[in-house]
Amino acid sequence: CKIHRHMKCSFVLQSAYIMETVCAFLYSHSHGKPWPQPMFILENGEMCRNPTEVKMSQIVLPCHANYCGELSAGQLLKWMDSTACLSAERHAGCSCITASVDDIHFITTIGVGQVVNITAKVNRAFTSSMEVGILVSCEDLFSNRQWKVCHAFATFVARRTEAGKVQLKQVIPRTQAEQMEYSLAAERRRMRLIHAEIINDLLSSCSSQTGDERLDYQDAVPAERTRVESVELVLPPHANHQVSTFGGQIMAWMENVATISASRLCNAHPTLRSIDMFHFRGPSHIGDRLVLKAIVNNAFKKSMEVGVCAEAYQGGEPLRHINTAFMTFEVLDNDRKPCTLPRIRPEPVDGKRRFQEAIARKKIRLDRKYIISCKQSEVPLSVPWDPSNQMYLSYNNVSALKMLAARNNWVLTSEKNKVSLYTLEENQTLCFKVETHVAVAAEQVFLLLSDLRRRKAWDHHYQYVKLITDSDEDDTIYRVVTPSVTKRGKVQDFILLASRRRPCDSGDPYLIALRSVTLPSYPPTEDYNRGEVLCAGFSIWEEENTFTKISYYNQATPGVLPYISTDIAGLSSSFYCTFASCSAFLQENKESLASLPTSTL
Ligand code: COA
Repeated sequence: CKIHRHMKCSFVLQSAYIMETVCAFLYSHSHGKPWPQPMFILENGEMCRNPTEVKMSQIVLPCHANYCGELSAGQLLKWMDSTACLSAERHAGCSCITASVDDIHFITTIGVGQVVNITAKVNRAFTSSMEVGILVSCEDLFSNRQWKVCHAFATFVARRTEAGKVQLKQVIPRTQAEQMEYSLAAERRRMRLIHAEIINDLLSSCSSQTGDERLDYQDAVPAERTRVESVELVLPPHANHQVSTFGGQIMAWMENVATISASRLCNAHPTLRSIDMFHFRGPSHIGDRLVLKAIVNNAFKKSMEVGVCAEAYQGGEPLRHINTAFMTFEVLDNDRKPCTLPRIRPEPVDGKRRFQEAIARKKIRLDRKYIISCKQSEVPLSVPWDPSNQMYLSYNNVSALKMLAARNNWVLTSEKNKVSLYTLEENQTLCFKVETHVAVAAEQVFLLLSDLRRRKAWDHHYQYVKLITDSDEDDTIYRVVTPSVTKRGKVQDFILLASRRRPCDSGDPYLIALRSVTLPSYPPTEDYNRGEVLCAGFSIWEEENTFTKISYYNQATPGVLPYISTDIAGLSSSFYCTFASCSAFLQENKESLASLPTSTL
């Protein structure tokens, strides 16, 4: 009955909440409720607080506000950067610099007289860099209400010493939320380090597709009118004790010129909605002249993209590129609804390129929002795959598995010869986990299980497997055919994205994450029921003496549940047969030269 109820429920995927829960260390949408305390209780009952956590509270004064009486985004960025820097330095024990800040989406504005509360903590340290999670909330002192304004992830790097690069100590996650953040931080790092490369590839492919498009620019505002250039002299108050310019100060200056540029298009006061990833390419110091340039790249119906660039020089030196950012602005009417914006007429050549690239970035932003942060109930189970959203789907796939694996409330349902079946019921979802150990090296297990074509050898549910495409070395798409779930029913097929990850450091598992995607070239057909996998995969842990722990996870969907329902109900133990056969397959092939799938089609 329980299982039947689960099948009827709308299955809510953990991954849907990735961006909602990645900051689970703190934030809540609890309007009017007391803000949760950062203290947590360990399993031994001891109360403790994350040692890297730093908090800042500021009352918004008129000097922090813009012409509308709202806190300027630039000032907020400065406070966020300072808080995050102090958290990073608390962990590193030495001076740190801002390397990058991931995309920020501002949910609400903050008025004069309200209080801004900023909390930052180090989620994970790598070699010399750390990811710092930043949460910003607003507090109304009169009504005692609090609400979230934005969250962000910044990367700080410990400043090199004479001895060279600093090796940071590891962060030790102590709660389930911290464990989840720790695990996801590795995935976010991967995404940010390849971000620029991927965006450039996409932009060049999109410009070649749309380069010759003839656009009607009548009645449009010439982009030239929105061009802003402004210089700032870096003085001691703009710098830290190492005489380097604060990253937050540079972001604030960039936001200032971007706002002027946006105002020139709409002849109104624009509101900053989001900022694409900031990457500080090189340092700036006291005495630098910072040249800040901004221009509206494109105006869409209700929003506009402003490109802004910061360059530095001293004396007769050539300009040094410090940062380039893209900011999205809206103009709000009296009801806080976005107004329709005038169109823009780009300048020839470079202006047209920027105009087209802004369209491509808008698509990328929407994909990212759709795949990474929207609620699962708002999207179909399978997400369309295409090269422009590949990075986000891969991130989503692995992050969902990591989140599922980090849960600590699995219940042991059944066990046979050291193969254990666990279940987890939460938020109308049913997940299962099968755990076993093998005497095969973890890397070999990873290679053997990574290639889904070999799964036929041990899993009778995999009747036919075809490799459709290797998107890159970490991601492969397969078509898998499985038996019918009813006696005379149709067989099922699945289009699966398999995303593989090697350990980021010695304490991490190997991961193989699986989820359904849709491909226009493989539509559902009459002869097959198209099944869907929401979140599944393997986590492979290296243990002592070449012993490896394998955990297989699956968030049950109507397409998958029938294969396991009798096991979960305790009426059968087919999971045991399948995983015993998996162990035998791994043993037989422990010496074979397994390799990751390559583009063989
Ligand atoms: N986002 C996140 N981390 C990044 C990054 C980016 N865009 N680019 C580099 N890093 C990380 C690397 O992964 C590496 O981390 P690890 O040591 O944990 O593996 C770390 O930065 C250092 O990388 P390295 O290759 O040794 O140095 P680099 O030549 O790439 O320089 C900076 C990286 C950040 C030190 C350099 O770009 C810089 O000085 N930027 C200006 C920083 C600054 O002054 N900020 C304040 C405002 S001006």
